[in-house]
Amino acid sequence: TKIFVPCDTTALAMGADEVAARIEAQARQRGAEIELVRNGSRGLFWLEPLVEVETAAGRIAYGPVDEDDVEALFDAGLLVGETGHPLCQGLTEEIPYLKKQQRLTFARAGITDPVSIDDYRAHDGFKGLENALHLAPQAIVDEIKASGLRGRGGAAFPTGIKWQTVLDAEASQKYIVCNADEGDSGTFADRLVMECDPYMLIEGMTIAGLAVGATQGYIYLRSEYPVAQRIFNEAIARAEAAGYLGDDILGSGKTFHLEVRLGAGAYICGEETSLLESLEGKRGLVRAKPPLPAIVGLFGQPTVVNNVLSLAAVPFILDQGGQAYADYGRGRSRGTLPFQLAGNVKRGGLIELAFGPSLRELMEDFGGGTFSERPLRAVQVGGPLGAYLPESQWDLPLDYEAFAAVGAVLGHGGVVMFDDTVDMAEQARFSMEFCTVESCGKCTPCRIGSTRGVEVIDRIRAGENREANLELLTDLCETMVDGSLCAMGGMTPFPVQSAMKHFPDDFQR
Ligand code: NAI
Ligand code: SF4
Repeated sequence: TKIFVPCDTTALAMGADEVAARIEAQARQRGAEIELVRNGSRGLFWLEPLVEVETAAGRIAYGPVDEDDVEALFDAGLLVGETGHPLCQGLTEEIPYLKKQQRLTFARAGITDPVSIDDYRAHDGFKGLENALHLAPQAIVDEIKASGLRGRGGAAFPTGIKWQTVLDAEASQKYIVCNADEGDSGTFADRLVMECDPYMLIEGMTIAGLAVGATQGYIYLRSEYPVAQRIFNEAIARAEAAGYLGDDILGSGKTFHLEVRLGAGAYICGEETSLLESLEGKRGLVRAKPPLPAIVGLFGQPTVVNNVLSLAAVPFILDQGGQAYADYGRGRSRGTLPFQLAGNVKRGGLIELAFGPSLRELMEDFGGGTFSERPLRAVQVGGPLGAYLPESQWDLPLDYEAFAAVGAVLGHGGVVMFDDTVDMAEQARFSMEFCTVESCGKCTPCRIGSTRGVEVIDRIRAGENREANLELLTDLCETMVDGSLCAMGGMTPFPVQSAMKHFPDDFQR
């Protein structure tokens, strides 16, 4: 019998290694023949560690499994996929949370052993690359344009146009840089890609290299992701050994090399130009744009800088065609977005859906409401620089334009929920404080403005000259939005302004 126990960071944090060890010990004791597979996570975090057992009908899921549950599970018939036990969730594929998703990028997550190339190939892996090897660079770029894919890091710039700019740039050396410095609060989709399906990112980056004429790629990975680093490096080594990376990819004579570089824990190094500085071994200071990295990027050369999720969407597009991807979504938001549900939520996890459903559906149908079971009050979408949304905006469709229309952002798809005990003035202060800590210090509105912001909010909360200070805060926010060099200072006011607008009472206490 095949038994699956996930090996990603979340499952490990919930005790997956201990559960796996107990399963092996129990099987030995009982003389049962099992094959223990360490798969990736399905992204149903409230059920982790989620143990799956292969049966003729499909995989049966049990979760959340504690190591002390293992013996009872064996007694209750775990090995034959017995469905009577209280931890049994039935067929994994039939769990509504998973069944209702539209998984294009995360189609393999949790199904395969992340570092097994055979598994990857058995589930459509490397088909996109094989197609791309027979295409001219322009044809690859055209396929990406046809898909409508937009940057999944948060800014939603059309990926095909970015690639076109790099393809058209004349240079002897070009680079592909993957931004894996996933710093937004409540987000984990990049990490899951690297820990659960690393070959998909390797394949996506290699296709990007073929498309624009880059022979070297770097993954800039945040140092807080040691498990992703280990799994990804192992995947690179195996892909090289199997001929999917290197100087003669699958005998095509084409070259692409990949390397992981670690960040050192600065949020601002997720901003593309400071990321490039950091990759070059310098302090992570933001560069002024223009020139765009697509023209003058890493070591001064034309560079594609894409988020993990953008590159991870590429293999599907080159396998199934741009139109197949564009068939999902609405308006100018094509394809799917892997939403990440976190904060005060009953069922947190990864939910990949085509653009279009409402925030409420995500939080209620999937999330099941708050963990505390108190009323939900505010939701921050798009990371620490994203606006707080009050109930009147929860029926907004999840797409880039609908969010932009109300001054909010979808960003990287992070959704953080708060119940009615939240103090929104305190959250506003936190936004400013976060900016004081993470500002690169290059420009005044951000470096000084955020410190002044914390002080003004403190005065408001203490009831000092409240009206005058609220006006000052409004003015300061406008200055930061208009005068900052990058999104750090330019977007920090979004959560502050939205808190003041939608939750004014919290500033009057
Ligand atoms: P941006 O709008 O300046 O640029 C978007 C991308 O398009 C960049 O890569 C830029 O170089 C490229 N670009 C723009 N015009 C181009 C052209 N004509 N040709 C080729 N490429 C072109 O936005 P930025 O500052 O890169 O990102 C801000 C976003 O980052 C925010 O919206 C926020 O949601 C997101 N963010 C994401 C975080 C995460 O952890 N994923 C953390 C913090 C912010
Ligand atoms: Fe640096 Fe802040 Fe200015 Fe961005 S806005 S360049 S982080 S000081």
